[in-house]
Amino acid sequence: MNDRKNKLNTQSVLSMKSSGYYSQKTIGAKIAIDSIQPLVEKAFKEIPKKNILRIADFGSADGGTSQEMWFNLIKELRDKDDRQIEILYTDLSSNDFSTLFRTMQGMEGNSQFAYQNLFKDVFVHGCGTGFHKQLMHDNSLSFGFSATAMHYVSEKPCHIQNHVHMVGANSEEKEKFKIQASKDWESILLSRANELISGGRFICINFGIDEKGRYLGNTGGHNMFDKFTFYWKSLEDKQIITKEEFVAATFTQHYRTLEEFRKPFDDPKSNISKAGLRLKSCSTMLTDCPYKVNYENNKNSITSKQYAESLIPTLRSWSETVFRTALNGREENQINEIVNKFYKAYQDEVVLNPEGHAMDYVHVIMDIEKI
Ligand SMILES: C[S@@+](CC[C@H](N)C(=O)[O-])C[C@H]1O[C@@H](n2cnc3c(N)ncnc32)[C@H](O)[C@@H]1O
Repeated sequence: MNDRKNKLNTQSVLSMKSSGYYSQKTIGAKIAIDSIQPLVEKAFKEIPKKNILRIADFGSADGGTSQEMWFNLIKELRDKDDRQIEILYTDLSSNDFSTLFRTMQGMEGNSQFAYQNLFKDVFVHGCGTGFHKQLMHDNSLSFGFSATAMHYVSEKPCHIQNHVHMVGANSEEKEKFKIQASKDWESILLSRANELISGGRFICINFGIDEKGRYLGNTGGHNMFDKFTFYWKSLEDKQIITKEEFVAATFTQHYRTLEEFRKPFDDPKSNISKAGLRLKSCSTMLTDCPYKVNYENNKNSITSKQYAESLIPTLRSWSETVFRTALNGREENQINEIVNKFYKAYQDEVVLNPEGHAMDYVHVIMDIEKI
Protein backbone atom coordinates (compact mmCIF):
# COMPACT_ATOMS: atom_id res chain seq x y z
CA MET A 1 0.00 0.00 0.00
CA ASN A 2 1.48 3.38 -0.86
CA ASP A 3 1.94 6.13 1.71
CA ARG A 4 -0.80 8.28 0.28
CA LYS A 5 -3.37 5.53 0.70
CA ASN A 6 -2.08 4.96 4.21
CA LYS A 7 -2.84 8.52 5.22
CA LEU A 8 -6.25 7.56 6.41
CA ASN A 9 -8.93 9.85 7.62
CA THR A 10 -8.40 9.42 11.32
CA GLN A 11 -11.43 11.24 12.74
CA SER A 12 -13.87 8.37 13.00
CA VAL A 13 -11.18 6.02 14.32
CA LEU A 14 -10.28 8.28 17.21
CA SER A 15 -13.63 9.15 18.69
CA MET A 16 -14.51 8.15 22.21
CA LYS A 17 -17.89 6.49 22.72
CA SER A 18 -20.50 9.24 23.04
CA SER A 19 -23.44 10.20 25.31
CA GLY A 20 -21.21 10.52 28.36
CA TYR A 21 -20.09 6.85 28.13
CA TYR A 22 -16.47 7.97 27.93
CA SER A 23 -16.27 9.81 31.25
CA GLN A 24 -18.54 7.35 33.05
CA LYS A 25 -16.16 4.50 32.21
CA THR A 26 -12.82 6.23 32.59
CA ILE A 27 -12.47 6.99 36.26
CA GLY A 28 -8.69 6.45 35.94
CA ALA A 29 -8.38 9.38 33.51
CA LYS A 30 -10.22 11.58 36.01
CA ILE A 31 -8.00 10.43 38.90
CA ALA A 32 -4.92 11.31 36.81
CA ILE A 33 -6.29 14.79 36.06
CA ASP A 34 -7.35 15.47 39.65
CA SER A 35 -3.92 14.48 40.92
CA ILE A 36 -2.20 17.28 39.01
CA GLN A 37 -4.53 20.01 40.26
CA PRO A 38 -1.84 21.37 42.65
CA LEU A 39 0.55 21.85 39.71
CA VAL A 40 -2.14 23.71 37.78
CA GLU A 41 -3.04 25.83 40.84
CA LYS A 42 0.58 26.86 41.21
CA ALA A 43 0.81 27.79 37.53
CA PHE A 44 -2.37 29.88 37.78
CA LYS A 45 -0.74 31.95 40.53
CA GLU A 46 2.34 32.59 38.39
CA ILE A 47 0.68 33.55 35.08
CA PRO A 48 0.66 37.31 34.39
CA LYS A 49 -2.82 38.82 34.75
CA LYS A 50 -4.59 39.88 31.55
CA ASN A 51 -8.07 41.46 31.48
CA ILE A 52 -9.62 38.17 30.46
CA LEU A 53 -8.46 34.79 31.66
CA ARG A 54 -8.58 32.47 28.69
CA ILE A 55 -8.15 28.77 29.35
CA ALA A 56 -8.21 25.84 26.92
CA ASP A 57 -8.71 22.13 27.48
CA PHE A 58 -7.26 20.39 24.41
CA GLY A 59 -8.72 16.97 23.55
CA SER A 60 -11.38 17.27 26.23
CA ALA A 61 -13.75 14.49 25.01
CA ASP A 62 -17.12 15.00 26.77
CA GLY A 63 -15.51 17.22 29.42
CA GLY A 64 -16.60 14.99 32.30
CA THR A 65 -13.15 13.88 33.44
CA SER A 66 -11.71 17.39 33.89
CA GLN A 67 -14.91 19.05 35.13
CA GLU A 68 -14.16 18.75 38.84
CA MET A 69 -10.65 20.13 38.41
CA TRP A 70 -11.94 23.18 36.49
CA PHE A 71 -14.68 23.66 39.08
CA ASN A 72 -12.14 23.63 41.93
CA LEU A 73 -9.77 26.01 40.15
CA ILE A 74 -12.50 28.48 39.19
CA LYS A 75 -13.97 28.35 42.69
CA GLU A 76 -10.61 29.17 44.20
CA LEU A 77 -10.00 31.96 41.68
CA ARG A 78 -13.40 33.50 42.29
CA ASP A 79 -12.53 34.16 45.94
CA LYS A 80 -10.11 36.88 44.86
CA ASP A 81 -10.32 37.35 41.09
CA ASP A 82 -13.46 38.55 39.32
CA ARG A 83 -12.02 38.62 35.81
CA GLN A 84 -14.12 37.20 33.02
CA ILE A 85 -13.08 33.63 32.28
CA GLU A 86 -13.29 32.03 28.85
CA ILE A 87 -12.82 28.30 28.67
CA LEU A 88 -12.37 26.73 25.28
CA TYR A 89 -12.91 22.98 25.00
CA THR A 90 -11.25 21.52 21.93
CA ASP A 91 -11.58 18.12 20.33
CA LEU A 92 -12.17 16.65 16.89
CA SER A 93 -15.31 17.65 15.00
CA SER A 94 -16.65 14.12 15.58
CA ASN A 95 -16.60 14.66 19.36
CA ASP A 96 -19.80 14.65 21.42
CA PHE A 97 -19.82 18.38 22.18
CA SER A 98 -23.51 18.23 22.95
CA THR A 99 -22.91 16.13 26.07
CA LEU A 100 -20.06 18.48 26.97
CA PHE A 101 -22.21 21.63 26.78
CA ARG A 102 -25.05 19.97 28.67
CA THR A 103 -22.62 18.82 31.37
CA MET A 104 -21.21 22.31 31.92
CA GLN A 105 -24.74 23.70 32.17
CA GLY A 106 -25.71 21.10 34.77
CA MET A 107 -28.19 19.31 32.49
CA GLU A 108 -26.15 16.10 32.57
CA GLY A 109 -23.38 14.52 34.66
CA ASN A 110 -22.55 15.96 38.06
CA SER A 111 -24.43 19.27 38.43
CA GLN A 112 -22.48 19.97 41.64
CA PHE A 113 -19.52 20.84 39.38
CA ALA A 114 -21.45 22.69 36.66
CA TYR A 115 -19.27 25.76 37.12
CA GLN A 116 -20.82 27.65 34.22
CA ASN A 117 -24.05 27.91 36.24
CA LEU A 118 -22.42 28.29 39.60
CA PHE A 119 -20.07 31.20 38.94
CA LYS A 120 -20.52 34.56 37.26
CA ASP A 121 -18.77 35.51 34.05
CA VAL A 122 -17.56 32.10 32.98
CA PHE A 123 -18.00 31.52 29.24
CA VAL A 124 -17.79 28.02 27.80
CA HIS A 125 -16.87 27.54 24.13
CA GLY A 126 -16.19 24.55 21.93
CA CYS A 127 -13.76 24.11 19.04
CA GLY A 128 -13.89 21.12 16.71
CA THR A 129 -10.52 21.56 15.04
CA GLY A 130 -7.63 19.25 15.92
CA PHE A 131 -4.93 20.48 18.29
CA HIS A 132 -2.16 20.09 15.73
CA LYS A 133 -3.34 23.46 14.41
CA GLN A 134 -3.47 26.87 16.01
CA LEU A 135 -6.97 27.26 17.46
CA MET A 136 -7.18 30.84 18.71
CA HIS A 137 -5.56 34.13 17.92
CA ASP A 138 -1.96 34.97 18.77
CA ASN A 139 -1.02 35.87 22.34
CA SER A 140 -4.48 35.25 23.76
CA LEU A 141 -4.23 32.06 25.82
CA SER A 142 -3.22 32.29 29.47
CA PHE A 143 -3.39 28.62 30.27
CA GLY A 144 -3.55 25.53 28.09
CA PHE A 145 -4.21 22.07 29.45
CA SER A 146 -4.40 18.66 27.88
CA ALA A 147 -4.88 15.21 29.37
CA THR A 148 -4.45 11.82 27.77
CA ALA A 149 -4.97 13.07 24.22
CA MET A 150 -1.75 13.94 22.44
CA HIS A 151 -0.65 10.35 21.88
CA TYR A 152 -3.09 10.39 18.95
CA VAL A 153 -1.08 11.08 15.81
CA SER A 154 -2.63 13.22 13.08
CA GLU A 155 -2.41 10.40 10.54
CA LYS A 156 -1.53 6.72 10.49
CA PRO A 157 1.94 6.53 8.91
CA CYS A 158 1.42 2.85 8.02
CA HIS A 159 -0.60 -0.15 9.01
CA ILE A 160 0.97 -2.50 11.52
CA GLN A 161 1.03 -6.01 10.09
CA ASN A 162 1.32 -8.24 13.15
CA HIS A 163 0.05 -6.17 16.04
CA VAL A 164 -2.58 -3.54 16.72
CA HIS A 165 -0.39 -0.88 18.36
CA MET A 166 3.02 0.70 17.74
CA VAL A 167 4.27 -0.76 21.03
CA GLY A 168 4.25 -4.17 19.32
CA ALA A 169 5.21 -3.03 15.82
CA ASN A 170 8.39 -4.11 14.02
CA SER A 171 11.31 -1.67 14.00
CA GLU A 172 10.54 -0.25 10.56
CA GLU A 173 6.88 0.39 11.45
CA LYS A 174 7.90 1.81 14.84
CA GLU A 175 10.26 4.26 13.17
CA LYS A 176 7.46 5.53 10.92
CA PHE A 177 5.24 6.16 13.93
CA LYS A 178 8.11 7.86 15.74
CA ILE A 179 8.73 10.23 12.82
CA GLN A 180 5.00 11.06 12.56
CA ALA A 181 4.78 11.68 16.32
CA SER A 182 7.82 13.91 16.25
CA LYS A 183 6.32 16.07 13.47
CA ASP A 184 3.02 16.21 15.35
CA TRP A 185 4.68 17.17 18.64
CA GLU A 186 6.35 20.07 16.84
CA SER A 187 3.01 21.22 15.32
CA ILE A 188 1.29 20.95 18.70
CA LEU A 189 3.97 22.96 20.44
CA LEU A 190 4.37 25.62 17.74
CA SER A 191 0.60 26.15 17.74
CA ARG A 192 0.58 26.57 21.53
CA ALA A 193 3.58 28.91 21.29
CA ASN A 194 1.53 31.19 19.00
CA GLU A 195 -1.59 31.05 21.16
CA LEU A 196 0.02 31.59 24.55
CA ILE A 197 0.59 35.00 26.09
CA SER A 198 4.06 35.75 27.32
CA GLY A 199 4.31 34.03 30.71
CA GLY A 200 1.39 31.76 29.79
CA ARG A 201 1.59 28.07 30.56
CA PHE A 202 0.72 24.79 28.91
CA ILE A 203 0.46 21.79 31.21
CA CYS A 204 -0.11 18.44 29.59
CA ILE A 205 -0.30 14.92 30.89
CA ASN A 206 0.23 12.55 28.01
CA PHE A 207 0.35 8.82 27.69
CA GLY A 208 3.94 7.77 27.10
CA ILE A 209 6.65 5.28 27.98
CA ASP A 210 8.30 5.83 31.36
CA GLU A 211 11.88 5.26 32.56
CA LYS A 212 11.04 1.60 33.26
CA GLY A 213 9.54 0.98 29.82
CA ARG A 214 6.01 0.90 31.24
CA TYR A 215 2.99 2.24 29.39
CA LEU A 216 -0.81 2.02 29.54
CA GLY A 217 -1.86 -1.54 30.31
CA ASN A 218 1.75 -2.75 30.50
CA THR A 219 3.01 -2.26 34.03
CA GLY A 220 4.12 -5.71 35.09
CA GLY A 221 1.19 -8.07 34.52
CA HIS A 222 -0.36 -9.01 31.21
CA ASN A 223 0.21 -6.61 28.33
CA MET A 224 -3.20 -5.23 27.34
CA PHE A 225 -2.18 -4.45 23.73
CA ASP A 226 -0.80 -7.99 23.32
CA LYS A 227 -4.16 -9.28 24.55
CA PHE A 228 -6.01 -7.10 22.02
CA THR A 229 -3.74 -8.48 19.31
CA PHE A 230 -4.18 -12.08 20.45
CA TYR A 231 -7.97 -11.95 20.45
CA TRP A 232 -8.20 -9.97 17.21
CA LYS A 233 -5.84 -12.48 15.56
CA SER A 234 -7.86 -15.41 16.83
CA LEU A 235 -10.88 -13.96 14.99
CA GLU A 236 -8.78 -14.00 11.84
CA ASP A 237 -7.62 -17.56 12.57
CA LYS A 238 -11.27 -18.59 12.89
CA GLN A 239 -12.00 -16.77 9.59
CA ILE A 240 -14.47 -14.48 11.32
CA ILE A 241 -12.48 -11.48 10.10
CA THR A 242 -10.17 -11.19 7.10
CA LYS A 243 -6.43 -10.57 7.11
CA GLU A 244 -7.13 -7.02 5.82
CA GLU A 245 -9.51 -6.40 8.71
CA PHE A 246 -6.89 -7.66 11.16
CA VAL A 247 -4.31 -5.24 9.76
CA ALA A 248 -6.77 -2.34 9.53
CA ALA A 249 -7.10 -2.33 13.32
CA THR A 250 -3.98 -0.26 13.83
CA PHE A 251 -4.30 2.31 16.62
CA THR A 252 -3.54 5.83 15.38
CA GLN A 253 -1.37 6.40 18.43
CA HIS A 254 2.25 6.75 19.41
CA TYR A 255 3.55 6.52 22.95
CA ARG A 256 6.50 8.89 23.10
CA THR A 257 9.39 8.21 25.42
CA LEU A 258 10.61 10.86 27.86
CA GLU A 259 13.44 11.55 25.47
CA GLU A 260 11.05 12.13 22.56
CA PHE A 261 8.94 14.50 24.66
CA ARG A 262 11.97 16.45 25.85
CA LYS A 263 13.93 16.59 22.61
CA PRO A 264 12.71 19.95 21.22
CA PHE A 265 13.24 21.60 24.62
CA ASP A 266 16.72 20.20 25.17
CA ASP A 267 17.93 21.69 21.89
CA PRO A 268 18.27 25.50 22.17
CA LYS A 269 18.28 25.75 18.37
CA SER A 270 15.02 23.84 17.83
CA ASN A 271 11.97 25.62 16.40
CA ILE A 272 10.26 25.13 19.75
CA SER A 273 13.03 26.80 21.73
CA LYS A 274 13.18 29.59 19.15
CA ALA A 275 9.40 30.04 19.51
CA GLY A 276 9.97 30.78 23.20
CA LEU A 277 8.75 27.60 24.87
CA ARG A 278 10.66 26.38 27.91
CA LEU A 279 10.16 23.14 29.81
CA LYS A 280 9.77 23.94 33.50
CA SER A 281 9.33 20.36 34.63
CA CYS A 282 8.87 16.89 33.24
CA SER A 283 8.07 13.76 35.22
CA THR A 284 6.23 10.48 34.93
CA MET A 285 3.20 9.29 36.87
CA LEU A 286 1.65 5.88 37.33
CA THR A 287 -2.05 5.80 38.16
CA ASP A 288 -3.24 2.44 39.40
CA CYS A 289 -6.19 0.98 37.55
CA PRO A 290 -9.11 1.93 39.84
CA TYR A 291 -11.00 -1.25 38.96
CA LYS A 292 -8.01 -3.38 39.94
CA VAL A 293 -7.62 -1.47 43.22
CA ASN A 294 -11.31 -1.91 43.99
CA TYR A 295 -11.09 -5.63 43.25
CA GLU A 296 -7.94 -6.15 45.30
CA ASN A 297 -9.43 -4.31 48.26
CA ASN A 298 -12.69 -6.23 48.13
CA LYS A 299 -11.77 -9.72 47.03
CA ASN A 300 -14.17 -11.19 49.61
CA SER A 301 -17.18 -9.49 48.10
CA ILE A 302 -16.24 -8.97 44.42
CA THR A 303 -16.11 -11.98 42.12
CA SER A 304 -13.68 -12.27 39.21
CA LYS A 305 -16.72 -12.03 36.92
CA GLN A 306 -17.70 -8.71 38.45
CA TYR A 307 -14.13 -7.51 38.15
CA ALA A 308 -13.97 -8.48 34.47
CA GLU A 309 -17.31 -6.76 33.89
CA SER A 310 -15.92 -3.55 35.33
CA LEU A 311 -12.51 -3.68 33.62
CA ILE A 312 -13.45 -4.48 30.02
CA PRO A 313 -15.87 -1.53 29.54
CA THR A 314 -13.09 0.91 30.46
CA LEU A 315 -10.88 -0.60 27.74
CA ARG A 316 -13.81 -0.57 25.40
CA SER A 317 -14.62 3.12 25.94
CA TRP A 318 -11.59 4.27 23.96
CA SER A 319 -10.57 1.23 21.88
CA GLU A 320 -13.85 0.05 20.37
CA THR A 321 -13.93 2.52 17.47
CA VAL A 322 -10.60 1.15 16.21
CA PHE A 323 -11.98 -2.37 15.85
CA ARG A 324 -15.34 -1.22 14.54
CA THR A 325 -13.70 0.94 11.88
CA ALA A 326 -11.53 -1.99 10.78
CA LEU A 327 -14.78 -3.77 9.89
CA ASN A 328 -16.06 -0.92 7.69
CA GLY A 329 -18.26 -2.17 4.88
CA ARG A 330 -19.95 -4.89 6.93
CA GLU A 331 -23.56 -4.70 8.15
CA GLU A 332 -23.98 -2.91 11.48
CA ASN A 333 -25.35 -5.99 13.25
CA GLN A 334 -22.39 -8.06 12.02
CA ILE A 335 -19.96 -5.46 13.31
CA ASN A 336 -21.70 -5.49 16.69
CA GLU A 337 -21.57 -9.28 16.82
CA ILE A 338 -17.86 -9.46 15.97
CA VAL A 339 -16.83 -6.69 18.32
CA ASN A 340 -18.90 -8.14 21.16
CA LYS A 341 -17.31 -11.55 20.57
CA PHE A 342 -13.85 -9.96 20.64
CA TYR A 343 -14.31 -8.19 24.01
CA LYS A 344 -16.19 -11.18 25.44
CA ALA A 345 -13.20 -13.46 24.74
CA TYR A 346 -10.89 -11.06 26.57
CA GLN A 347 -13.42 -10.74 29.40
CA ASP A 348 -13.71 -14.54 29.73
CA GLU A 349 -9.95 -14.79 30.23
CA VAL A 350 -10.13 -12.23 33.04
CA VAL A 351 -13.02 -14.11 34.67
CA LEU A 352 -11.03 -17.33 34.57
CA ASN A 353 -7.90 -15.81 36.06
CA PRO A 354 -7.97 -12.09 36.89
CA GLU A 355 -4.38 -12.08 38.16
CA GLY A 356 -2.22 -9.57 36.26
CA HIS A 357 -5.08 -8.05 34.28
CA ALA A 358 -5.46 -4.30 34.72
CA MET A 359 -5.21 -1.00 32.93
CA ASP A 360 -2.77 1.10 34.93
CA TYR A 361 -2.13 4.51 33.39
CA VAL A 362 1.35 5.82 32.64
CA HIS A 363 1.58 9.56 32.01
CA VAL A 364 4.34 12.01 31.25
CA ILE A 365 3.57 15.32 32.95
CA MET A 366 5.01 18.44 31.35
CA ASP A 367 4.79 22.01 32.56
CA ILE A 368 5.71 24.35 29.69
CA GLU A 369 6.09 28.13 29.79
CA LYS A 370 6.07 30.64 26.97
CA ILE A 371 8.68 33.24 27.75
C1 LIG B 1 -8.64 9.43 25.81
S1 LIG B 1 -9.55 10.86 25.44
C2 LIG B 1 -9.07 11.95 26.75
C3 LIG B 1 -10.15 12.87 27.16
C4 LIG B 1 -9.87 13.73 28.38
N1 LIG B 1 -8.92 14.76 28.07
C5 LIG B 1 -9.41 12.90 29.53
O1 LIG B 1 -8.27 13.04 29.95
O2 LIG B 1 -10.19 12.10 30.04
C6 LIG B 1 -8.67 11.53 24.06
C7 LIG B 1 -9.40 12.65 23.36
O3 LIG B 1 -8.51 13.26 22.42
C8 LIG B 1 -9.23 13.58 21.27
N2 LIG B 1 -8.32 13.81 20.15
C9 LIG B 1 -7.60 12.90 19.44
N3 LIG B 1 -6.90 13.51 18.49
C10 LIG B 1 -7.19 14.83 18.58
C11 LIG B 1 -6.77 15.98 17.86
N4 LIG B 1 -5.94 15.90 16.83
N5 LIG B 1 -7.25 17.18 18.24
C12 LIG B 1 -8.12 17.28 19.28
N6 LIG B 1 -8.54 16.23 20.01
C13 LIG B 1 -8.09 15.02 19.66
C14 LIG B 1 -10.16 12.39 21.09
O4 LIG B 1 -11.22 12.70 20.22
C15 LIG B 1 -10.58 12.17 22.53
O5 LIG B 1 -11.73 12.90 22.85
